[in-house]
Amino acid sequence: MKICSTIAEARAACLDARARRRRLGLVPTMGALHEGHLSLVRAAKAQCDAVAVSIFVNPTQFGPTEDLSKYPRQFDRDCRLLEKEGVEILFAPPVEEVYPNGGVTWVLVESLSEKLDGRSRPGHFRGVTTIVAKLFHIIEPEAAFFGQKDAAQLAVIRRMVRDLNFPEEIVACPIVRESDGLAMSSRNAYLTREERSRALVLQRSLQKARQLFDDGERSAAKLISAAAKEVFASEPLVVLDYFEIVDPDTLDPVERISRRTLVAVAARVGSTRLIDNVVLEP
Ligand code: PAF
Repeated sequence: MKICSTIAEARAACLDARARRRRLGLVPTMGALHEGHLSLVRAAKAQCDAVAVSIFVNPTQFGPTEDLSKYPRQFDRDCRLLEKEGVEILFAPPVEEVYPNGGVTWVLVESLSEKLDGRSRPGHFRGVTTIVAKLFHIIEPEAAFFGQKDAAQLAVIRRMVRDLNFPEEIVACPIVRESDGLAMSSRNAYLTREERSRALVLQRSLQKARQLFDDGERSAAKLISAAAKEVFASEPLVVLDYFEIVDPDTLDPVERISRRTLVAVAARVGSTRLIDNVVLEP
């Protein structure tokens, strides 16, 4: 695996990989890799001839009071995992390489960036789209792989790609869960044992929504009331941020579920903010 810490090195390595083979896949990450990330790498390997992974804890997507400084960093372990998966190129630049002094240019997907996580984390998606656009310019992959767990991020990135005519194919990969159902996240490492068990309420609320949907309920308001209000009432120490039933592309709320619909939840367990979702298909 070639480890590149500068943009010039990454460009050269990716050009070389694309010259030798046809399709280059990119898996953008912030490191602290878990099975969810590795499932993206495996999907990229299955669909591409060579795989590049980026590890960059992107400061512009963290708010001033968020967890940038304590975000888990495990570079040596991450390298070992990626090497084992047969990743060809790892791009792991320092912050100054990506954001040299004086940068004032942003990529902003208006309106969508203010929904779901964008509402609770102002500026977050502007940071995400800016770094993903930069990575696409540097790596120039044919396809990029993202987890369905970050459903709002996926919608925002798809919209950026569409509006700015990026050639990259965006591939969404299924949520990977722990054996008890908790969606895998690098932030799960922050949870105490007690919080870890309380955190299962996110998954329980989504299961309740799915069960009511499978039983024939199509009213979003009824699902929200039974799944969010009632289930979260059983875990008063978990603070619900949002529980929304929305169109997966526009992130606009739907009243009745008549086509593919996203049920998304975010909540704070102690000081850790977790998200999860399920897609309902009538
Ligand atoms: O999903 C993530 O880990 C990040 O938001 C991403 C896409 C790597 C951009 O920093």
